[in-house]
Amino acid sequence: MKKIVIATIATLALATSAMAAVNGKACTSCHGADWSKKALGKSKNVAAMTHAEIAHSLKGYKAGTYGGPMKGLMKGQVAKYSDADLEAFSHTIGK
Ligand code: HEC
Repeated sequence: MKKIVIATIATLALATSAMAAVNGKACTSCHGADWSKKALGKSKNVAAMTHAEIAHSLKGYKAGTYGGPMKGLMKGQVAKYSDADLEAFSHTIGK
């Protein structure tokens, strides 16, 4: 049990440091730990999207130029980040 806890903390620390300024932990409750879940049954499988597609969508949600019926929800998730942060984060997820 102790080993599992230590391993979990180590993994989280690693994941956090690799994730630019965007807090990915705020996203995976909807998108799944490996980003393959259709968030709220509406989103695409982000794990199958390319880095460029993800960057386009995240910046688009922020600008209000991208998205489906639930784009307002995603705007709330990304509005606080700079385009550069979103761009950098997009390279840490997807393919
Ligand atoms: C409350 C649940 C929820 C959270 C939290 C959330 N998302 Fe989303 N996400 C969604 C939904 C729902 C959609 C589809 C929105 C639409 O209609 O366009 C989506 C869409 C996306 C897409 C584009 C996929 C597509 O369908 O085109 C990306 C990329 C994405 N989210 C990344 C993120 C990131 C990065 C975060 C954290 C900063 C995040 N999401 C947090 C629910 C969530």
